[in-house]
Amino acid sequence: MRTTDAVFQTKDAILYLANLKSRLIDMSLERWTAVDEYYGKLLMPPDPQLESALKKSLAAELPAINVAANQGKMLMLLAKMQKAERILEIGTLGGYSTIWLARALPKGGKLITLEYEQKHADVAQENIKNAGLSDKIEVRVGSASDTLPELVNEKCPPFDLIFIDADKPGYSEYFKWAMQLSKVGTTIIADNVVRDGEVINPTSEDERVQGIRKFNEVVTAEKRFCATAIQTVGAKGYDGFMIGMVTD
Ligand SMILES: C[S@@+](CC[C@H](N)C(=O)[O-])C[C@H]1O[C@@H](n2cnc3c(N)ncnc32)[C@H](O)[C@@H]1O
Repeated sequence: MRTTDAVFQTKDAILYLANLKSRLIDMSLERWTAVDEYYGKLLMPPDPQLESALKKSLAAELPAINVAANQGKMLMLLAKMQKAERILEIGTLGGYSTIWLARALPKGGKLITLEYEQKHADVAQENIKNAGLSDKIEVRVGSASDTLPELVNEKCPPFDLIFIDADKPGYSEYFKWAMQLSKVGTTIIADNVVRDGEVINPTSEDERVQGIRKFNEVVTAEKRFCATAIQTVGAKGYDGFMIGMVTD
């Protein structure tokens, strides 16, 4: 190789690496968070009730694993587009997503939210009261593996929208119960189905990843359900939602 060729190739390699580096920086969590903040300011005016719900959850030392504001608003919009009158949520935490969803309900609408931890449920009840939504929301405490069959046994009328956001190993079971609590047209949404992309790793030792993979098997085997998966990035990292509709 001539010296001039070698110089050009080295220069090309340096330029390529510099370009790659700048693209990697562009795709950082910092940038995703900044874009979340940008759209947060544009589309979501200050909201004292939701901000207080987050503050109170933090003060009670609940984990900050609630949906992001833009995701909460997406849930509210989906419920409104669906004209949902009955909503079921599996995984309440401090009631942040619960408040977003319940805001979509018309007068007389109802949301039931299922939570395993008594402490989380207590914080959620307080936040729901502050948001003026106690008449629309019922918080049921217990494992969803028990409270979902209870709803079926009670012959609870079908829900228009169901949001699954509890322990990931339970998702496939919760989805089966959710189908029983649905009717044609019910929307079912599940959070955290991407998990930093680990969902594509069949040998992952993370039980949450394996929980999502099992859920995906059950969802794809269910012929009465038509779904898609949307990857999300932002303040909450790299994850995603499964969104689908009961068709039959
Ligand atoms: C990701 S958090 C829910 C976040 C909430 N949807 C939000 O965005 O504001 C998951 C919640 O599910 C609850 N959970 C875990 N296992 C559960 C189970 N077996 N049944 C019901 N809830 C459960 C956890 O205690 C936690 O509060």
